[in-house]
Amino acid sequence: MVCASRNTEADKIMQRKSLRYNGKNGRGFFSISISWSPKIEKILTFAQMETVVSGIRSTGKLHLGNYYGAIQNFVKMQNEFNCYFFIADLHSLTTHPTPANLHGNVKQVLVEYLATGIDPDKATIYVQSDVPEIAELYLYMNMNAYMGELERSTSFKDKVRANPDNVNAGLLTYPVLMAADILIHKATKVPVGKDQEQHLEMARTFGNRFNRLYDNEYFPEPYAFNYSNNLVKIPGLDGKGKMGKSEGEANAVYLSDSPEVIRKKVMRAVTDAGPTVENQEKPSEIKNLFDLMKVVSSADVIAHFEDTYNKMQIRYGDLKKQLAEDMIIATAPMREKIDAIAADSDYLRKVAKFGADKARESAQKTIKEVREIIGFKSF
Ligand code: TRP
Repeated sequence: MVCASRNTEADKIMQRKSLRYNGKNGRGFFSISISWSPKIEKILTFAQMETVVSGIRSTGKLHLGNYYGAIQNFVKMQNEFNCYFFIADLHSLTTHPTPANLHGNVKQVLVEYLATGIDPDKATIYVQSDVPEIAELYLYMNMNAYMGELERSTSFKDKVRANPDNVNAGLLTYPVLMAADILIHKATKVPVGKDQEQHLEMARTFGNRFNRLYDNEYFPEPYAFNYSNNLVKIPGLDGKGKMGKSEGEANAVYLSDSPEVIRKKVMRAVTDAGPTVENQEKPSEIKNLFDLMKVVSSADVIAHFEDTYNKMQIRYGDLKKQLAEDMIIATAPMREKIDAIAADSDYLRKVAKFGADKARESAQKTIKEVREIIGFKSF
């Protein structure tokens, strides 16, 4: 963890008003020699790598859905973009965790980010609450967010329905905080799943409103971004929807689950009585198991079970056994690292500090400029 990010390097060069700029764009490394002028900063900003921001709420252990649906993409993106990956602990406050749970959950996600291959030398990894500038931008953005549109958000309505006794204002303004997360780094690319599209649209709306209000083009528009062939849906084991923690412990396979736990969970997965005609269409609970196989099993294993299903010779017990073993193999390297990293407090402290410093450098620049645009002035 020694090297500064390329953009930080570029910033330093800018500060020295140097003539040389080294950068990387979609086509590779490049270098330009120029005499500094106020206009150059704009050109350089444009030439820099695009900025990616994404976060995962710290509400517990990460599961295969988090990994195959999000983190696997993050690991790839960190080589190609200026990436900020954070742990959304401020967002987790809507459900009022105890202090001990809050810290444990943040640690869990940090450890699992690292164990899955997010590299603090490539991406900026930080804890959201370590960057108070986000909370400040959230306050400003709240002035551009209207009650009506916040109340119409699908996820807000879902949460109200699920927890009618805990409809706090933080829940209502969740999309404003998410907008602040993204706009604080002026990100344009946001790797998120389908369920976050509406939030992202709101982030664009709030940023654009700010721009219009102050008659400038300060915030760029953030858009959902994924490697298209990687947009996989990871179903849970309950035969219904996607893998998630709110559906109960048994529905999700966690990266930290031991082989015995994985075997137990998979063997209990919901199935039906078996196909009754050849080449029968699979009911959702069976399709889910095949979809899980697609991410952890080899092509010939999948072909074998497809074939036995189509011939009505399938034995779900065999399929589940195979699926469990393949999940164990796929998660083993991460599981081993999770324990080692979790035990290394020194390393975790360094990573969190290093990431927070880098994130704050970027956030402070934005806040300074936003304050100027709004019109705050010192006497
Ligand atoms: N709302 C996201 C989720 O529940 C998490 C999140 C918070 C996020 N802030 C973000 C994702 C900013 C991307 C960018 O999954």
